[in-house]
Amino acid sequence: MREGHAHVIHRHDYQAPTYWIATVDLTLDLDPAKTLVTSKLAVKRNANQPHGPLVLHGEELTPLRVMIDGEPVSFRQDGNELTIDAPDRDFELVIRNTCCPEKNTALSGLYTSGGGFFTQCEAEGFRRITYFLDRPDVMAVYTVTLRADKTKYPVLLSNGNLLEQGDLDGGKHFAKWHDPFPKPSYLFAVVAADLVAREQRIRTRSGKDHLLQVFVRRGDLDKTEHAMNSLIASIVWDEARFGLPLDLERFMIVGVSDFNMGAMENKGLNIFNTSALLASPATATDADFQRIEAIVAHEYFHNWTGNRVTCRDWFQLSLKEGLTVFRDREFSMDMAGSPSARAVQRIQQVRALRAVQFPEDAGSMAHPVRPDSYVEINNFYTATVYEKGAEVVGLYQTLLGREGFAKGLKLYFERHDGQAVTCDDFAQAMADANPGSQLASQLDLFKRWYSQPGTPRVTARGQYDAESHRYTLRLSQHNGKGELPQLIPVRMGLLGPEGQALPLQWEGELASHGSETVLLLEQTEQAFHFVNVLVEPTPSLLRGFSAPVLLDDGLSDAQLLNLLQHDSDAFNRWEASQRLALNRILGAVRAGQPLVLDAAYLDAMRAVLRHPQLDAAFKAEALRLPEAAYLAEQLQVVDPQAIHTAVEAAWTQIAQALRADWEWAFEAHQVSGGYRPSAEDAGRRALANLALSLLVRASTLSGEPVWPGKAYQRVKDADNMTERFGALAALVSAHAPLADAALAHFHAQFAHDALVIDKWFMLQARAPERDGKVFERVKKLLQHPDFTLKNPNRARSLLVQFCNFNPGAFHRADAGGYVLWADQVAHLDAINPQAASRLARAMDRWATLAEPFRGAAKVALQRLAERSTLSNDVREIVTKALE
Ligand code: PHE
Ligand code: ZN
Repeated sequence: MREGHAHVIHRHDYQAPTYWIATVDLTLDLDPAKTLVTSKLAVKRNANQPHGPLVLHGEELTPLRVMIDGEPVSFRQDGNELTIDAPDRDFELVIRNTCCPEKNTALSGLYTSGGGFFTQCEAEGFRRITYFLDRPDVMAVYTVTLRADKTKYPVLLSNGNLLEQGDLDGGKHFAKWHDPFPKPSYLFAVVAADLVAREQRIRTRSGKDHLLQVFVRRGDLDKTEHAMNSLIASIVWDEARFGLPLDLERFMIVGVSDFNMGAMENKGLNIFNTSALLASPATATDADFQRIEAIVAHEYFHNWTGNRVTCRDWFQLSLKEGLTVFRDREFSMDMAGSPSARAVQRIQQVRALRAVQFPEDAGSMAHPVRPDSYVEINNFYTATVYEKGAEVVGLYQTLLGREGFAKGLKLYFERHDGQAVTCDDFAQAMADANPGSQLASQLDLFKRWYSQPGTPRVTARGQYDAESHRYTLRLSQHNGKGELPQLIPVRMGLLGPEGQALPLQWEGELASHGSETVLLLEQTEQAFHFVNVLVEPTPSLLRGFSAPVLLDDGLSDAQLLNLLQHDSDAFNRWEASQRLALNRILGAVRAGQPLVLDAAYLDAMRAVLRHPQLDAAFKAEALRLPEAAYLAEQLQVVDPQAIHTAVEAAWTQIAQALRADWEWAFEAHQVSGGYRPSAEDAGRRALANLALSLLVRASTLSGEPVWPGKAYQRVKDADNMTERFGALAALVSAHAPLADAALAHFHAQFAHDALVIDKWFMLQARAPERDGKVFERVKKLLQHPDFTLKNPNRARSLLVQFCNFNPGAFHRADAGGYVLWADQVAHLDAINPQAASRLARAMDRWATLAEPFRGAAKVALQRLAERSTLSNDVREIVTKALE
């Protein structure tokens, strides 16, 4: 429904359907302009509900005929519903309809891309293929017959196992697939295209044989090795860590270049955005390799957490997403190996959480991990549901330990395999599998993590009594208005003045319990008493980021420096580095003064950079400044330009003051030998890239040609994309005179590779603003022949990167960024509402902006809201922003 009134759907209104569907027998005659769909359904009366008409979902479909038990029946079509007066018994329903894949630019349902057919059914795309009870609690067994032109579409795929295939008249062929596992319609998938596959046969622990296939366009086969390796590693890991085997004879992955998200876990037939699948050393960076490994794992892990046990309704989305992100994170950490590499993974997770989820949770789209209402479910595939949801799953593991968590997961599958369930069912299984645990005794308190929006603020203050050797730590929590206290595990330790770990001994106990513990904050305020503390300690709190909260620990610079140098917890060492930077940047912003970094800070950073034991990857993270979005969250009133100016000044001073150290770091972290995407090599490259970027920055400011020249040379002859792109980024972000030539060279070299050209757009959209040049460039790039709003990757590379992730360039006193945003949201919305609605979210936090930004942002929002043709997707975002 494009126009009309927003229909709000509430979690508490859930009702089981009047009918179930046991089997689906689907035939698709694939034609880009008019695909004919014949659907034969075994419909079962749900005796628990009163009898009523059968109301099926359907969108942008043309109905041809409807038959019950072989007899044509009448039906009413009203908006996106098809109503049939169905009998009060089981029956067979046959529906024939058509749809138009080539006009489907929304990329939901059945659509064409690169001359092939692909589907995307989560969340509500199946109803754009045929009329159905398109809701996740209706689970059916599917048999699917595909018919299509054999030359154009030699590969015909659907879920499950291939039963039959063969030729038909008129140059056509067919394939018949059967999926033995009952599944909700959102896991249905079809592919018909000219593709080739990398294949691998494996035998799993149980002794069963499986065929793994990765399908891509001809020419991309050499970029599928990493995905295949990641898939095999995921299969092995899930069996070893959680005892969850691959339940299919055949597991297929297909790449497609037009896709709204990263990838989709359709049963046995995962469909991937090529950006989340294809990698070669020449075209993908270390970060791409890492992301592909994580997404391949994520989709594979959904096979149990999502597919075998699915969601009762879409309010339960985090049941599968939070849990599966948690699982892919655990996998990535295990793959990374060393404790330091694990810590780096955790650091990157938290950086992303703070830059995206924290602002979301404080902005106009704030919602609990399990939302209570929505207008458009597509708007709730959010950082809160995914990333905060994963943090919440992590809390179970922190409370129960690894074994207790694994027991809980086992019970969850014993109870719910084959069912569509709720977040409450998951929590209950975790508690019941661990009787006597804190979780079991405080389950209701714990579940507030699902029901309350907002990021809890924890304040910690310590008090040391030198005479009695007592140390008292007072913790308090403040949640949003009207919200209740939550159960917050605070992993912690105490450090002495020389950084030594102090033994922890509770009041009333005779001995210490090691040097690390988890405090459970469950009330608004609590005090924890330690005894036998012989020296004044520095508390190291929230180690490993043990809960997704904002912590105010009031630590002094000296204490932060102590943690930075000595904490046994690598995460908190990093956190200290971030806090030292954050305090300085915010200090300058609040005072309205230019930032001047002090010698103590610069010396500390130099010590990190030169440290003989720390890993390069950790150093690169510790030396990076906090994200602008996270800095903004610390302020009541946000002037994005003031933050931008301070961050730029900080980078320049770090570049200049540590110049000799960066030169050393660059030379000392070159990787020799062939490219490997290992954590260790990637860490060296990350630090060398950071060094190069700061050297180019300092040189450009002083007009020295050597480092920009070296960077330019690297753009030309690096033998891997990580180094090449790092060098290009160094030139572009320093606004070096050679940047344009380097960009042109890079573009010419990769003109044929869409994923690399996406990077080229992204880099320019994300460049730090200088005198409006970035904004001007983005406007010009909108006219570039390679730019198109039709491909979501391309639209995202330029527009989302600029509007949502480049605050220093986007927020302009002349409102130019906002005008561009409103125009592009409107254009994109006419093509692809889901993509447009992500772009629309650039304004989530407009209300905290300082003037003149705030007023101008409001005008742009209002202008957009006035348009009569907005999709539900965009309208929901814009309406909430203006509420
Ligand atoms: N369920 C997919 C995932 O997280 C994401 C997705 C949602 C993809 C909606 C497409 C559409 O793995
Ligand atoms: Zn997922």
